[in-house]
Amino acid sequence: MDAVPDSRADPAGWLTARLGGPAFGGDYNPEQFQHDPAVRREDEELMRRARVNLVTLNVFGWAELEPEPGRYDFAALDARLERLHAQGVAVDLATPTAQPPPWFGLAHPDALPVTADGTRLTHGSRDTYCLAAPAYRQAARAVAEALAARYGAHPAVALWHVHNEYATVCHCEHAADAFRRWLRDRYGTLEAVNRAWGTAFWSQRYGAWEQIQPPRATQWRPNPGQVLDFRRFWSDLALTAYREQRDAIRAHSRVPVTTNLMLPGYQVLDLWAFGREVDLVGVDHYPDAPGLDAAADTAFGADRARSFGGGKPWLLIEQATSTVYAGDLVLPKEPGDILRHSLSHIARGSEGVLFFQWRQSPAGAEIWHSAMVPHAGPDTRIFRETVETGHAVAALAEVTGSTVRARAAVLHDPDVWWALDTPVLPTPELPYLPALKRAHRALWDAGITTDFAHPSADLSAYRLVLAPSLHLVSEESAAALTAYVEGGGTLLVECFSGAVDPHYRAWPGGAPGPLRPLLGLRAEEFRPLPSGAAVTLTDGGAGATWTEALLLEGATAEIRYAEGTLTGRAAVTRHALGRGAAWYASTRLSPASYTALIAGLIRASGAEPELPALPAGVEAVRRHSADGRAYLFLLNHSPAEVRVPVRGHDLLASRALPPEGAVLPPASATVVREES
Ligand code: GAL
Repeated sequence: MDAVPDSRADPAGWLTARLGGPAFGGDYNPEQFQHDPAVRREDEELMRRARVNLVTLNVFGWAELEPEPGRYDFAALDARLERLHAQGVAVDLATPTAQPPPWFGLAHPDALPVTADGTRLTHGSRDTYCLAAPAYRQAARAVAEALAARYGAHPAVALWHVHNEYATVCHCEHAADAFRRWLRDRYGTLEAVNRAWGTAFWSQRYGAWEQIQPPRATQWRPNPGQVLDFRRFWSDLALTAYREQRDAIRAHSRVPVTTNLMLPGYQVLDLWAFGREVDLVGVDHYPDAPGLDAAADTAFGADRARSFGGGKPWLLIEQATSTVYAGDLVLPKEPGDILRHSLSHIARGSEGVLFFQWRQSPAGAEIWHSAMVPHAGPDTRIFRETVETGHAVAALAEVTGSTVRARAAVLHDPDVWWALDTPVLPTPELPYLPALKRAHRALWDAGITTDFAHPSADLSAYRLVLAPSLHLVSEESAAALTAYVEGGGTLLVECFSGAVDPHYRAWPGGAPGPLRPLLGLRAEEFRPLPSGAAVTLTDGGAGATWTEALLLEGATAEIRYAEGTLTGRAAVTRHALGRGAAWYASTRLSPASYTALIAGLIRASGAEPELPALPAGVEAVRRHSADGRAYLFLLNHSPAEVRVPVRGHDLLASRALPPEGAVLPPASATVVREES
């Protein structure tokens, strides 16, 4: 038998050794049923059927745990842990700090969050706290400490789950004080802040630290440098709050500690920074679209989660058995989706799949949120698919610890996200998330396994790197990207890049600032297009939203504008540099043009798909073990039966594949240990 890994040196390895395979389970909240023994007995039986081995407890349990200030009542949690342990189910134990009890807000009204327009929120929902309020931080640390002291060595506890989805942002006086302290640390002098933010404009010059505010509601446009710094500050503050709880837990426990990061639509946190501080990355993922878009979004979320942890195994802490809020609609997952989405996460490095939540809540704000056991009970399609998924996950024990190898990357920088969010841009139609998704989707459609990477990272492992936007760029990132291309890489940068520096100040000499030698061009003029307008290009394609008048300084025009003022001028360029090439698209290419360009870059760069010539809607991803085995995950999202000529052992069916290879019925999946 293999030795159990050390929980500090290899947290994910320790967790899966403790569980005997990948994790399977979800948030478990028997308190929502007043601890009804009949429900509890049925839960035990159903968890056995579904092969649940890990449940998340106590996420919103603060009011039950500390009914009055300073008086902890552990009785219910003690009993729950004992019972689960006896049942053979391990616990992901949460600190309940995402919602303080009602008494807390009454005792500490200054710890309730204030919106940008000055409204102080009150309890009655959730996530109602200010991370900058001393009373909140002290109470959060105390409850984490109390839990760790009591359960730090409890044999049921296999994972610590700090807080829940750090996302609340506050604009109160505590936030203002903390922001000023952060600015002092970062800039040293008030003069440096004034310079960085360009406060000479509109008479904003600060003469004393106390004059600086969080970006509260203003008469018109706020200062973009201030907005950007506040977002950085808030992410740092959240990380400090996380570390406080983590360290309080570590003082009593060697069990790995993480938090469930929210993906992919919110960007309150610098997820690279969190990835460095958690023992293993934990994320929640809820695709908000049905069909193939949900499959692509699942891959998008999972590839991000893996990347934020530097490629190490990670864990999906929440997903749902339905979609969540597609607009205002909750859509069902169709038959087979739960399994395929789950396997897509595991294929991309997750060491299991957990759901929100085990049993549908009989009351409260999420009464209609889906669950593994619906209101209609276990005799339902959803519970049957839950059981099927639990069995599939259990068959993948040998896959744990293996990793994913990507030959392409999409650049992801929280500073760019926040910069493109500032309300001072010449167009609101170039937001970051859709651009990131489009780049990832183009590679996903081509069957290419993709990482995300920070622009300042060493990118030499990748054949092809897509930068959907480098609107804000630092000298350091420009140098890293130049080294990548000179070393033989292929890079595509998209429009409106290299426009501002990390303080949101225009780069002297205009765009693309420090990317100018790399791209071999400069933009003499930005020419945004009216909403809905398009411009035709010489390859027969089109651009929209944005155009630029480029002056070439070494780059060659691959595609030109074919109409309007820019007729005949470069639209898409290529600059050969060192052993590689840097491409620039100065307009937002139409979907067809974008796909064609990416197809060309894939060919030119040698970034190969995981399996060649797969039919549309069929996904293939591999995990590789340290001892040379390869696990091929095949996900058929299409309505047709698909044959894939591969040799090996089908782990889900537990038998050798027939000589003709894997046969996948519509909407099905399989996992193959490949024969080398
Ligand atoms: C997550 C949250 C859960 C639950 C879920 C619903 O963001 O952590 O508590 O609300 O969303 O989709």
